[in-house]
Amino acid sequence: MRKGESKPIPPGYRLKFLGFMLRDTYGRQITDLRASVTDRCNFRCIYCRAAEPENYQPPEHLLTFPELLRLCDILGRLGLRKIRITGGEPLVRPGVEDFVARLVALGRYQDIALTTNGLALAEKAATLKAAGLQRVNVSLDSLRAERFDAITRTRGVLPRVLAGIEAAQAAGLHPVKVNVVIVRGFNDDEIVDFACFARERGLILRFIEFMPLDADHIWDRSRVLPAAEIQRRLEDAGLPLEPLPRNYASETALRYRFADNGAGEVGLVAPVSEPFCGKCSRIRLTADGKIRTCLFSQLDHDLRGRLRGGASDADIAAEVERIIETKEDGHHINDPDFTPPNRTMVFIGG
Ligand code: GTP
Ligand code: 5AD
Ligand code: SF4
Repeated sequence: MRKGESKPIPPGYRLKFLGFMLRDTYGRQITDLRASVTDRCNFRCIYCRAAEPENYQPPEHLLTFPELLRLCDILGRLGLRKIRITGGEPLVRPGVEDFVARLVALGRYQDIALTTNGLALAEKAATLKAAGLQRVNVSLDSLRAERFDAITRTRGVLPRVLAGIEAAQAAGLHPVKVNVVIVRGFNDDEIVDFACFARERGLILRFIEFMPLDADHIWDRSRVLPAAEIQRRLEDAGLPLEPLPRNYASETALRYRFADNGAGEVGLVAPVSEPFCGKCSRIRLTADGKIRTCLFSQLDHDLRGRLRGGASDADIAAEVERIIETKEDGHHINDPDFTPPNRTMVFIGG
């Protein structure tokens, strides 16, 4: 921990003297918003959702796009600079392309990205790019068609996701990052195939440790493949990696290039074996208008009620400041008394 980081800083001081940057009580600068636009998804990935249909929120509980834009504007004025649009699956919400255009027009965010399962990306990549979206992260957990069906619990969809990745690259959404959640015993035998896939296509591929955020509670420490083991397996297969510098302090992935200078990049996201909470710059906004200060928060902070109750921008900004005061020091996955959050990934936003 850097000098002074753990000392609480009074809120007024933070806004006045720290260049209009939000800081939490641990001194972490809060610059990134992950905004979920829907809790719906057209996949049912085993590491995320339940086998049986969950109850979606009734539509009136979800923030309308104008409500969401107003919040994004307020948060931008408080100093947030990066935004990632997530879900559920964000591309299932009608009008998301137009929302992107309006978000760009706000002029508050330097980095506007979207996380998708890729199913509708082939149709939407060019429109999203034209709307001003900069880049996408696409989930892809197997390169084998039958296994992909089993992981997503959806039939025959791998070709469409692969076409979506190609379309995103062709549309100039850059960089395209591919997220692979590795679950030991399900897809860890594809690590080398995925690395070759990244080399062939010049992609940034990220191997992500499985986190206890799944609805069916299949998470178990034995299912987590630590990032160090992934790296070893690549080395053993003749694909050694060399570290690359971080792009920014709060980056989730440790970045590597192939030692032989091959195209593409590998990222290792190791929330379980090497937690990165000390550098976290993220808050999340759920589709129903709650702020979550950590993926593993036990609490939601409601903003929808305030929005709909006629609160002014200044009231909402003050409330956000108060909420950020409560940001947890970290996820505590490795503590003996760890309790998973009451919302799973599909209801929080990736
Ligand atoms: P960019 O820098 O915008 O590319 O974001 P990123 O590197 O965080 O990418 P992305 O949003 O795809 O995050 C990669 C993965 O890291 C996610 O899919 C999650 O599994 C995990 N992750 C993201 N944010 C957090 C976080 O705040 N806490 C934890 N524990 N895991 C996270
Ligand atoms: N563990 C790790 N990452 C997860 N994601 C979803 N569920 C989990 C989990 N249990 C991530 C995936 C996906 C994004 C939406 O969220 O990276 O791409
Ligand atoms: Fe899979 Fe993402 Fe949908 Fe969860 S939200 S089921 S991870 S595609």
